[in-house]
Amino acid sequence: MESKNLIMEQIKAGPTIIIIFGATGDLTWRKLTPALYNLYLDNWLPENFYVLGIGHNDLDDTKFREHLLDGVNKFSRRGETNKNEWDGFSRFLNYYKGEFDDINVYQYIEKKIQELKSLWKSPVNRIFYMAVPPQYFNVITTNIGNSQIARDNKISRIVIEKPFGHDLESAQSLNKQLHNFFDECQIYRIDHYLGKETVQNILAFRFANAMFEPIWNRNYIEQVQITVSEQLGVENRGNYYETAGALRDMIQNHILQLLCLIAMEPPVSFNADEVRNRKVDVLNALRQFKTEEIRKFAVRGQYGEGWIQGKKVIDYRHEPDVKINSNKETFAAVKLYIDNWRWQGVPFYLRTGKRLDETISVITIQFKPVPHQSFPAEAAENWQPNRLVLNIQPNMGIRLQFQAKQPGLEMLLYPVDMLFRYNESYTSGTPEAYETLLLDIMQGDSTLFMRADQVESAWDILMPIIRAWEKNPPVNFPNYSSGTQGPQDAEALIAADGNNWLIIPLAKNDK
Ligand code: BG6
Repeated sequence: MESKNLIMEQIKAGPTIIIIFGATGDLTWRKLTPALYNLYLDNWLPENFYVLGIGHNDLDDTKFREHLLDGVNKFSRRGETNKNEWDGFSRFLNYYKGEFDDINVYQYIEKKIQELKSLWKSPVNRIFYMAVPPQYFNVITTNIGNSQIARDNKISRIVIEKPFGHDLESAQSLNKQLHNFFDECQIYRIDHYLGKETVQNILAFRFANAMFEPIWNRNYIEQVQITVSEQLGVENRGNYYETAGALRDMIQNHILQLLCLIAMEPPVSFNADEVRNRKVDVLNALRQFKTEEIRKFAVRGQYGEGWIQGKKVIDYRHEPDVKINSNKETFAAVKLYIDNWRWQGVPFYLRTGKRLDETISVITIQFKPVPHQSFPAEAAENWQPNRLVLNIQPNMGIRLQFQAKQPGLEMLLYPVDMLFRYNESYTSGTPEAYETLLLDIMQGDSTLFMRADQVESAWDILMPIIRAWEKNPPVNFPNYSSGTQGPQDAEALIAADGNNWLIIPLAKNDK
């Protein structure tokens, strides 16, 4: 199916029911309902639409709606709701209390679908959304499968949230479990980064402009850096994070996907499988880590106490639900090479961490110096490499750094910028990632979702690091203070190549 993202078809989905397992959980409250509400306001929801929330809590429709209203008021990008609009939307929201292993739940879903079918006089698209922790994936998918409510693969889809597996083996077994009951075309594995506007724009930037692609290779690009830095700590997610860590939580999915978008070959078309094939090509070309060399390619860290925005914050080991002697990494940096014609020899440095000094996600592409420097050394004293900086968030835009002659009677070079800022170029609001992704699911467009082989390749490449880290517990944790740029080891990793980490804000005065 063609991607609506690229050809701007404004076609609404047909009659749809979304069944949300985990309807009283954080994801439904914070992300899914605000996204559905904004789709409603933007007139993207089908006329015939029904949300069936399934959860353990004892709620009726009214209480369920009140609970979701609170989330929408807090998290909708449009701020607080207006009563008429909320009333118009909330009539879609319905609740059913049930346990995920209870067959009655699935019989109720079947009954509801049949009712809607006769009411709407039309087949009903059904979306099963797993907004639940992974331990429930098996029981829910087995019950959906056995009860036959998703057997028509044209109108039934299943949505799986991360984490998709804990390692290669568990990801393979989850894929196998899903494939017992669903065809691959029915499975939508979410990586919410792929729904972000600035992330989707990487494809537009690379493949809708003639000027960058000819130099987008090892002949002109010296290095690529991807930093996803967060000031937040683990918050109330200690239980999950203790099983994950930064490598699994961020690099295996979001950051490797960013790398794929930067490094992939131009797709022949924006057909979902074509785009995903080109991304898998990148993952398959990543150089395998040799166990004895892991130290040179990957470093980890854990935050100690420190200061964030003038406030004292505690160390990771004292966060709720975290073991006092935990060895889980809250920071990871990895150096990768892509062994193909385009990228041979170009280092890709990736890093991410919690409780760092800034919240920023940024991709920096640094170009090689000019082949011959014609200017006298004193003219080029302030010389800096050409850099293209793709700012994913919080400030959205693109900055291109190049040299210009500084005004004056002497020939002096000085780095200057060309800048594209979303908030200056566009006046309309930017949809949240979940709006894009939910709409794509309703329309059956899987371009922005992870295919089985994509997830497995991403695990495969990281497994040597995961194994080496598990085998050799760190001796120096915590090894960075909150509010800093992470551990010294990360500086050493990149300094070994004569480079340093770059965080280039969108504009000189942005922070
Ligand atoms: C999630 C991770 O997938 O992404 C979190 O589990 C992380 O640990 C979050 O904070 C970051 O997402 P965003 O959209 O806030 O950059």
